[in-house]
Amino acid sequence: MQIPVLIGCGLIDILNKCYEDFLKIDLETEIGHLLKHKQAEKIVGIWNLWSRISFPRFETYVWQCVNRANRLQEVIDITGTVHTAINLLYVLSHHGLCQVSQNGDIVFSKKLKNDEVAVDCANAVIPERIKNKREHGQFQATWSTSVKRANMIFEQIPPWKHIFFCGDDDLTSLALGQMSSSACNISVGDIDRDLISFIKDYSGRHGLQIEAFEFDVKYEAPDQYKKKYDVFHCDPLDHGQGIDLWLQRAQEVLKGEPGDAIYLNISADRLGQREHYLFKHLHEMGFDLEEKYKNFSSYQVAEEPFLNTEKLNEEMNKINIGYDTIKDLYIHTDLYVFIRKSVRPIFLPQEFMEIRRKI
Ligand SMILES: C[S@@+](CC[C@H](N)C(=O)[O-])C[C@H]1O[C@@H](n2cnc3c(N)ncnc32)[C@H](O)[C@@H]1O
Repeated sequence: MQIPVLIGCGLIDILNKCYEDFLKIDLETEIGHLLKHKQAEKIVGIWNLWSRISFPRFETYVWQCVNRANRLQEVIDITGTVHTAINLLYVLSHHGLCQVSQNGDIVFSKKLKNDEVAVDCANAVIPERIKNKREHGQFQATWSTSVKRANMIFEQIPPWKHIFFCGDDDLTSLALGQMSSSACNISVGDIDRDLISFIKDYSGRHGLQIEAFEFDVKYEAPDQYKKKYDVFHCDPLDHGQGIDLWLQRAQEVLKGEPGDAIYLNISADRLGQREHYLFKHLHEMGFDLEEKYKNFSSYQVAEEPFLNTEKLNEEMNKINIGYDTIKDLYIHTDLYVFIRKSVRPIFLPQEFMEIRRKI
């Protein structure tokens, strides 16, 4: 596997400069006509409070464009408006991070894009798996699920961000580590000591930069992990108390900034009406649902550690299906992606003037 050449401090410095320029141009484009207003200072204050694009959002736009955009239309699809897309491309090209040709083709600089890494995404190697442990509620997803999750995170999250896998018997961290090599900052915390040793050992043998440590969601996160991460990934125990504990830890270890992300694997069908309260709770924490992928993860029924084989056999006999077919049965969970949109606990902001983005 090639080590990616990208993404050192140098790149972050350039992105910071791009962002500074972008903020100026964005403000001028959107509310330039109001800057001569006698209340201009107040108007800029409102703009900064409610409409300014944060640095994490800006970085995410850039990274998603690098992965998905070859034309202006695709940049508009990512940023949401024509003007934001044009301004983004303007600052990136001005700082040598992309080239836009007359016919509308966009080529990103090698500093940002790394073809070898992208190619490897399809080929993450399956590590030897560990046995599910009942006492920790483990029920591993299939390896192709872990690869799919890792691919998604790799495409959506800039690799210089810090990702925390809170519980990871599915070994999604190893799939991501293999894809991104040393580019991603990956940590894994899990209650299972054997799993942590396995992840440490596997990462060490394969040169993956993954930090792994024992971590129990029942207790407050130790200080050194607080406010450290941009992304929190989990596949929690799906009873109410389980989800609650995982989300409490997410609140502690995430940076607390707009753009923080939670990747939550859970089954809406099993949650039932509690799904509504899950959303409400996350909403109060400042998070909005960005995406929901139905049936994203698969788990082989035969591997469920709590499976009562005798009972299931009886049930299957009722509909004349032989027990052997169980090896081909899977259950699924949905993948929810929540993004922190607000860090201000205010309901329905009212200002003396309403400002909205252009199309
Ligand atoms: C909870 S299990 C997956 C459960 C499964 N998806 C379900 O809902 O039945 C996911 C990971 O969380 C870890 N885990 C279980 N209890 C934990 C705890 N108290 N603190 C941290 N990790 C825990 C497990 O070891 C495993 O790696």
